Amino acid sequence: MAKRALITGITGQDGSYLAEYLLDLGYDVFGMVRRSSTENLERIDHIKNDIEFMQADLLDQASLDKAMDTSRPDEIYNLAAQSFVPTSWSQPVLTAEFTGLGVTRILESMRNFAPEAKFYQASSSEMYGKVREVPQNELTPFHPRSPYAVAKAYGHHITVNYRESYGLFAASGILFNHESPRRGREFVTRKITDGVARIKLGMAEKLALGTLDAQRDWGYAGDYVRAMHLMLQHDQPDDFVVATGQTHSVRNFLEVAFNHVGLNYEDYVVQDPRYMRPAEVDQLIGDNSKARQILGWEPTVSFEQLVTMMVDSDLQLLGG
Ligand code: NAP
Ligand code: GDD
Repeated sequence: MAKRALITGITGQDGSYLAEYLLDLGYDVFGMVRRSSTENLERIDHIKNDIEFMQADLLDQASLDKAMDTSRPDEIYNLAAQSFVPTSWSQPVLTAEFTGLGVTRILESMRNFAPEAKFYQASSSEMYGKVREVPQNELTPFHPRSPYAVAKAYGHHITVNYRESYGLFAASGILFNHESPRRGREFVTRKITDGVARIKLGMAEKLALGTLDAQRDWGYAGDYVRAMHLMLQHDQPDDFVVATGQTHSVRNFLEVAFNHVGLNYEDYVVQDPRYMRPAEVDQLIGDNSKARQILGWEPTVSFEQLVTMMVDSDLQLLGG
């Protein structure tokens, strides 16, 4: 019998890659979507007929219970969240509700309706924030720097707590930034590649950004969803850092993206205080040795390949 997977956040970047991956492996995929006045299936349009959709919301326990009871999943991937860091300062309580307490609601549903299932929590390298050591591993203490990161730290700890309290198979993947042509346009990588494509095609003149000095360990989302799946195939629930082990600044990203179309970023980029954050995470770099050794996972897409893939995709989308 085919395995059954329930994915929350299936309309997001990671949800779309994970759904593709699990369908290819022969899973029955159940996708949780929240009610909207307009359809929001752009990223999964090509596979939507293969997915069984269920309407539910992280704020609504009854809807989560119904989704869990109907899908009776073998594996649950909790990817849904308010995931944009700047919004967490303007909507801190909502972010805590979705990104923090939402995890407890899902775990409670699992405990009541699918206690034998395996659970994956989408934890984040943002939890390391003002980093305590370099590189960061599974034992590095957290120092969150945004309401989003605080909520994710809660989500991580409640996942570990339900594992320890109730013996649930609950794994936490501490994923560093991962990007793709399907990344939301408000995140810096996609904002840059979309901006580069617009400038190259004569549709824009400038690109306004915040800090260019922040450094991130950027990987490819398609690689990272494989790690999520591997965590749930392991014989015991655990925490895993998923990262490339390399870090680059926003400025490095700009150089590669603009160079790819024969332009110099310094001629186009302006800094705008509106995009500066009240508290910044200056540098993230992950130690992926545990995932490599125990899960046999490794990234396959280099930084340069990632940047150029995203620029080429945006050029094509805009008709270039
Ligand atoms: P994303 O593109 O922003 O997708 C977020 C998903 O959550 C969307 O499907 C969204 O649905 C759904 N959602 C938001 N609020 C919800 C609610 N109240 N009820 C039900 N669904 C809700 O995020 P992503 O980049 O794919 O990331 C997936 C997860 O990994 C997130 O939890 C994120 O915080 C975490 N993470 C991401 C990264 C990264 O670099 N991408 C790194 C570490 C951790 P709508 O389409 O309806 O808005
Ligand atoms: N979004 C954005 N827009 N970021 C900018 C800009 C801008 O105009 N200019 C500079 N940046 C800087 C931010 O200040 C930050 O230091 C860096 O670029 C990356 O910002 P984002 O792409 O918004 O990602 P993030 O690192 O804050 O958060 C992402 O990664 C986390 C994992 O570490 C999100 O995907 C989170 O959901 C995820 O948990």
